[in-house]
Amino acid sequence: MSIMDSLKAKAKADKKTIVLPESMDKRIYAATEQILREGIANIVIIGTPEEVAENSKGYDITGATIVDPFTDPNRQKYIDKFVELRGKKGVTAESAEKMMTEDYMYYACLMCKCGDADGAVSGACHSTGNTIRPALQLLKTKPGISSVSGFFLMEVPNCEFGDNGLFVFADCAVNPDLDSEKLAEIAGLSAESFKMFTGGEPRVAMLSYSTMGSAKHDDVTKVSEAVKIAKEKFPDIALDGELQLDAALVPSVGELKAPDSKVAGHANTLVFPSLEAGNIGYKLVQRLAKAEAYGPVLQGLSMPVNDLSRGCFAEDIVGVVAMTAVQAQLSK
Ligand code: ACO
Repeated sequence: MSIMDSLKAKAKADKKTIVLPESMDKRIYAATEQILREGIANIVIIGTPEEVAENSKGYDITGATIVDPFTDPNRQKYIDKFVELRGKKGVTAESAEKMMTEDYMYYACLMCKCGDADGAVSGACHSTGNTIRPALQLLKTKPGISSVSGFFLMEVPNCEFGDNGLFVFADCAVNPDLDSEKLAEIAGLSAESFKMFTGGEPRVAMLSYSTMGSAKHDDVTKVSEAVKIAKEKFPDIALDGELQLDAALVPSVGELKAPDSKVAGHANTLVFPSLEAGNIGYKLVQRLAKAEAYGPVLQGLSMPVNDLSRGCFAEDIVGVVAMTAVQAQLSK
């Protein structure tokens, strides 16, 4: 069974309600038809009757709940919640109403916050920033977490590394400014994500262009400091660094360059030193190794909200909805 088939099976076992705010995109309806047919999640679509009728032509979305943000009986409850959460940032009832109806992602996050949905998925026709900003503002991080980050679950075909080609790569999507503290936090969250989505034991490599002091530079120190912090914070996680990618993945190289490390040569959870490295790294593996790249999945948020690539296919949306539903099961 592929990792996605097992995640869909998990999602079906305890169905969650996922809200899709991009009623203006036809791929949402193709995905909804499949999600409902396979019983992966309950679906709420936010849109006016005109938007839904125009874009859902040809798809059977019977069973989806359509919420019109202009006439929804819960609308006032969401406006009040928005003002309660963001009044100090200058949001008024009037501006809340405007933001919710001009950008349905705000509406979706308020539905989650008020307990009317378990998670949200967007980004088929919105940038990553515009998709996740409402979630950062309204849902915030889990207690004790300072930064939300984004990982990809990578499934590399015919691969002897990681857990038979399964990996978590992070942060590939969110934080442009990573310091040692943030990298350490990402290591802990990524280990949790690896376990949550694969059921396997995480082995976390903190990546660099240096292995165990082989090079000296502030960028290397940033990672080695992160390793110290993470080892102290998460003594039960198998974690090591700083490691070059080959030393992290390939047993013979790990043995040669970091002989005392239990992670070197066996890593399945890769923490990249910067957003550039993470974002470029996952795309290289996706394109050159023809890997499946599921994500970016956000980790560290108080409720699951996930982003889609604007080049996504309906099948990708189905996958991200399944992952969001699994996160929702485990975050309750
Ligand atoms: N974790 C938690 N909270 C955060 C984070 C974070 N990583 N980043 C920002 N916030 C909070 C801020 O504290 C702020 O809260 P407040 O309004 O209550 O004070 C709120 O979110 C908004 O913050 P801003 O700084 O105003 O938001 P910004 O415009 O910087 O957006 C964002 C944040 C969207 C994460 C931005 O850093 C970003 O665009 N990152 C890069 C995304 C990207 O383009 N990724 C690559 C493409 S993805 C792909 O290829 C699959």
